[in-house]
Amino acid sequence: MRIVYLNPVGRLGGAETSLREVLASVRAAEPGWDLWLLLGEDGPLAQNARDLGVRVFVKPYPASLARLGDSGGWAALTRLLKAAGSSAKYARSLALWLREIDPDIVHSNGFKMHMLGAWTRPRRSRLIWHIHDYVSPRRLMRWLLRPFRKACTLAIVNSRSVAHDVERVLPGLRIVPIYNAIDLNRFTPDGDRLDLDAKAGLTPAAPGTVRVGLIATFAVWKGHKIFLEALARLSPGTPVRGYIIGGPIYQTAGSQWSVQELHQTAERLAVARQVGFTGFLEDTPAAMRSLDVIVHASTEPEPFGMVIIEGMACGRAVIASQAGGAAELFVDGESALAHPPGDSAELARQIERLSRDEGLRRSLGQAGRANAEKMFDGKRLADELRAVYASPEGVSVRAKAQPTGAIQEISERV
Ligand code: GLC
Repeated sequence: MRIVYLNPVGRLGGAETSLREVLASVRAAEPGWDLWLLLGEDGPLAQNARDLGVRVFVKPYPASLARLGDSGGWAALTRLLKAAGSSAKYARSLALWLREIDPDIVHSNGFKMHMLGAWTRPRRSRLIWHIHDYVSPRRLMRWLLRPFRKACTLAIVNSRSVAHDVERVLPGLRIVPIYNAIDLNRFTPDGDRLDLDAKAGLTPAAPGTVRVGLIATFAVWKGHKIFLEALARLSPGTPVRGYIIGGPIYQTAGSQWSVQELHQTAERLAVARQVGFTGFLEDTPAAMRSLDVIVHASTEPEPFGMVIIEGMACGRAVIASQAGGAAELFVDGESALAHPPGDSAELARQIERLSRDEGLRRSLGQAGRANAEKMFDGKRLADELRAVYASPEGVSVRAKAQPTGAIQEISERV
């Protein structure tokens, strides 16, 4: 079996972390398969994939295509038209490259690669879209993907919630929900830790301080503001220090915070001294183990939420925003605690509760680890992918998607 994976960027956002585990689990299950990865931009994913024995090609996107966002509107349409000429050239060279490799499967990640995959795949190659985000709120992408869906044999989606959304906006597309996996030997409760205070340029926290961190890219909807507001709402004397771990990684304009903006928000809320900014930390498991509580604070329904399963696998207490696919990953009060998206008062209440209850932190951590072992193991992922690759047309898994009111709401808002 020869598979070509297509991914727009080399930096490690959620979809790339997911892809890395796809590559690792397929490689472990099928050492004889020929795996290729084409990236539209260089970055750490390239080396990660090479280390797994995947053949990596970096074919940089033309600048106009790299900048093309996917949230819709006239501005996006103008950008799309500007990108059309250079995209066509890029597509031609991608088509030649694919023809030479002649893969059985083209597995694409990211909306631009879904389109390019449909446009350029050799006729005998089957195309599998791996959809990581809701399509309905992205008007431009929704519109662009529709005509291309006939070229796609099947779409893998990362949760039942996303399955339901895609079913609605791309009718007729065959959909298979497959949960992401993580490396359970890397994301472990015990192991190296980091000095987060030093990384953030802070003096060491007093003994007994409970460390609470948000680990995310700086996309606006990841809820950094809600996290800072929650810290500002804690009762005086709550022994908590907050950490913002991560940075701005996307090229598309207008959808992410800059570090200065977040510093200003922390100043305005008078929590600048209770929160440290570490920047992006490569060793995510060590960063997680250095925290007592991991916060996921997305303000919109989260399609999946890698950080939730990573935090559980590290045996840490996780507080997650309960909407979308994220709500499928844990049982509230058992393997993690939930708060409604965008509700800083409720988030503050959960942080405060955990800061005062070490026993609850421990039991959530243990149940979280057990849940991660049960649901997010790489072997399970490899088995599901093998079934899809072996016979994409024959896969019987169908989305048993529950309608999610929240997605209905966002799609109506845009
Ligand atoms: C995208 C989604 C995120 C998910 C990740 C991996 O980044 O927004 O929710 O965890 O893909 O599937």
